[in-house]
Amino acid sequence: MQRTLFICKPDCVQRRLVGEVIRRFESKGLRLVALKLMTVSRALAEKHYAEHAGKPFFEGLIQFITATPVVVGVLEGNEAISVLRGLMGPTNGAAAPPGTIRGDFGLSRQNNLIHGSDSAESAAREIALWFTPTELLDYQLADEHYVS
Ligand code: PPS
Repeated sequence: MQRTLFICKPDCVQRRLVGEVIRRFESKGLRLVALKLMTVSRALAEKHYAEHAGKPFFEGLIQFITATPVVVGVLEGNEAISVLRGLMGPTNGAAAPPGTIRGDFGLSRQNNLIHGSDSAESAAREIALWFTPTELLDYQLADEHYVS
């Protein structure tokens, strides 16, 4: 069982797509472990996107993610990291295939609605950055069944 972090970015919240996006996660069989609506501080944004520091889009990305609230959460499930990335689609919404979140709702590389951890190492780092251990809830759904 894997855990992964997702962020419904400001454009997702502004466009009232949070419910639609989380519905797709739940319909796929992923389970919410943590969830919150928050405004992102510049310090947190810079830590989260540290690997992109120095790239031409970095400052715009920090401005974008800190401008208005995001919904951030943790999902758990079999192969959760790659499953979430598949549901999201590739970075550029204009190139993302229909049926993916970015393919269905976006055209941009920055306003691309959703972030998802890209590896087990990133997931562990990002979950620890955004959530305290007590915010990660351990529970089971009544009808839970996972394919292994
Ligand atoms: S890259 O080119 O490999 O650095 O891109 P990638 O790792 O796929 O995504 C980088 C994150 O920065 C956001 N962003 C942009 N990426 C590329 N080009 C431009 N112009 C750009 N502007 C913003 C992009 O949405 C990725 O955000 P996350 O939250 O990681 O998906």
